[in-house]
Amino acid sequence: MNLVPMAEILNDAHKKGYAVGGFNINNLEFLQGIVWAAEELNSPLILQASEGAIRYMGMDYVAGMVDAAVKNTSIPVALHLDHGSSFEKVMQCIRNGFSSVMIDASKLTFAENIELTKKVVEAAHSVGVSIEAELGTIGGTEDDHKVEGKDAMYTDPEQAKEFVDATGVDALAVAIGTAHGVYKGEPELDFERLDTIKKLIDMPVVLHGASGISAADLKKGVELGVNKVNVNTDFQQVFTAKIKELFADDPDLYDPRKYCGPGRDAIKEKVKEKIMILGSSDRA
Ligand code: G3H
Ligand code: ZN
Repeated sequence: MNLVPMAEILNDAHKKGYAVGGFNINNLEFLQGIVWAAEELNSPLILQASEGAIRYMGMDYVAGMVDAAVKNTSIPVALHLDHGSSFEKVMQCIRNGFSSVMIDASKLTFAENIELTKKVVEAAHSVGVSIEAELGTIGGTEDDHKVEGKDAMYTDPEQAKEFVDATGVDALAVAIGTAHGVYKGEPELDFERLDTIKKLIDMPVVLHGASGISAADLKKGVELGVNKVNVNTDFQQVFTAKIKELFADDPDLYDPRKYCGPGRDAIKEKVKEKIMILGSSDRA
């Protein structure tokens, strides 16, 4: 694989004031739809796989498929573990060629989060792999990662500064009101908090749970310093909606290429829309 470390992509975004998609892959069609969209718009790309998605596809398939995608493109691509739950899981991804990992110790105490994140930073940086960590807790559900609404906790700006100084992470995921999965009401983002955090830490900031967030709010987030925007649910929804529509038209469909192909095209269009909002086109 000829992947680039995520820090390379994000440091440029931080310096120039745009964001790059951290787009989740769940199968071959997601991977192709996402990569083809980024290629068409000449955008750098962060492909990410959750532990659940890696279990579903198999580590060798994830690494093999991404390898094939990277060999066939000239845009910079990072492969990132999304919401890594332990030191062991992170190491397994690094051994399999990932160029970036997230250690999500946000459910631990502040001190424990620092301790585990620091350990991962040392190991990952020693082999040129980038690190994202999370402070505060983002609500909602994504695969194995579940946080009840009442347990979601916004990121404290002073703690964020202390955390990045103590750990040396390359990017920090912040909790400012987004949630994983489908929103029940209208999401309200705490932009003031984001602004304060960005000014204090002055480094790449990550927004999780970006599906369902309006283009205007995403743009405002990017203006205030978000450099990586994670999207999964929006792509799952357009893929499934397209397949449902095709089956409604023709319930006798049986060739998967006839519905997964259009599903892949729907993902590609949605990815292009996100890239235009984030401002990463022509930055490859
Ligand atoms: O880590 C992945 C993202 O935060 C995806 O969230 O499915 O709500 O877009 P989403
Ligand atoms: Zn997330």
